[in-house]
Amino acid sequence: MFLQSLSLQYFKNYEKAEVSFCDHFNCLVGINGSGKTNVLDAIHYLSTTKSAFHSLDSQSINHDGQYFVVNGRFSLKGKQQKVHCSLKKNFRKTFKVDESEYERLSEHVGKFPVVMIAPNDDELIRESNETRRKFFDSIISQYDHEYLQSLIKYNQHLKQRNALLKAMNESGRVDAVMVETYDKPLITLGQGIAKKRKSFIKKFLPHLQSNYDRLSERRERVSVEYNTKVLANDFAEQYAKGLKKDVITQRTNLGIHRDEYLLVIDDFLIKKYGSQGQQKSLLISLKLAQFEFIKSHLGKTPILLLDDIFDKLDDGRISQLMSIIGSDTFGQVFVTDAREERTRSLLQGKFEPMKLFRVDENSIEEVS
Ligand SMILES: Nc1ncnc2c1ncn2[C@@H]1O[C@H](COP(=O)(O)OP(=O)(O)OP(=O)(O)O)[C@@H](O)[C@H]1O
Ligand SMILES: [Mg+2]
Repeated sequence: MFLQSLSLQYFKNYEKAEVSFCDHFNCLVGINGSGKTNVLDAIHYLSTTKSAFHSLDSQSINHDGQYFVVNGRFSLKGKQQKVHCSLKKNFRKTFKVDESEYERLSEHVGKFPVVMIAPNDDELIRESNETRRKFFDSIISQYDHEYLQSLIKYNQHLKQRNALLKAMNESGRVDAVMVETYDKPLITLGQGIAKKRKSFIKKFLPHLQSNYDRLSERRERVSVEYNTKVLANDFAEQYAKGLKKDVITQRTNLGIHRDEYLLVIDDFLIKKYGSQGQQKSLLISLKLAQFEFIKSHLGKTPILLLDDIFDKLDDGRISQLMSIIGSDTFGQVFVTDAREERTRSLLQGKFEPMKLFRVDENSIEEVS
């Protein structure tokens, strides 16, 4: 699967742009603020119906425009498919494949998969467990629909239980029987989810470690530790005992919504002790492992979007990364870089077919 062409109207900094890509390496070079990342975000829209950077779609409309249109032509097993995404100010977003609209946008997810690695993804390493839970949940949900349904149900029950805790806190009356009606499904659903998370991490870890080992040439070892209290034998008792605290804090303190994914390097937390380059290497390895997982479970090779990937990596790691993404595992790859010379020296002549685009003053020109 690959993106043959992209056309943009009033999308972010572009008033009008059209570009044809090749099925392997496509490099976008240009100075800071020229619009390289915005092209990757347009591709992200076509794949996921959303921006990779912000949740407010209207932010993607050009400051001088009243709407945006992103059109893409994909080639899928030799067949062409047109994907259309547009938004008019104060209207709903329109999303069509071959002129037909979806009932629900979620139906589109997974049809044209992409994996993106962007600088702001470092929050996956540095920020709270919630970010990592979301990342791993999104991978499991891609191939296990039941998991996604359980997660949705769990979150609904949790919201209701928390509302009840708040009401009980305010009224000063604790109704243990009433709370129990939420406890049972939360415990059962939570235990099912935790079991799946545990077995997923076991399968995911070898992919992560083999990518990290290649990138770092085995200079250090990384791992993910999954911690949950939900699978303890006495969890139901702990849950009941925790009610007093839950009422005081007005939230449920135990459950899979508090699970931890600890990222460690040589037995220490990487967010505290890892260098910037090591953190970036782990981020790249997490995303490459995500790529391998999606590819094997969906049977489609995702498009790889690499935004400013070279920054903070030393020459050794850059050359390892190039050899990884140059392998047969990957299909179409997009790379952005503010330094044209670096991209030329790293990629030109080594990866064929390859196209180089210069992004400048809101235009995208192919250069030879
Ligand atoms: N809605 C919008 N309307 C007009 N311009 C926009 C809009 N949203 C973003 N921009 C502009 O797009 C430009 C940023 O583009 P982008 O992030 O793609 O740059 P870049 O080439 O990736 O730069 P860098 O090398 O710094 O990462 C900025 O100049 C910004 O003002
Ligand atoms: Mg950028």
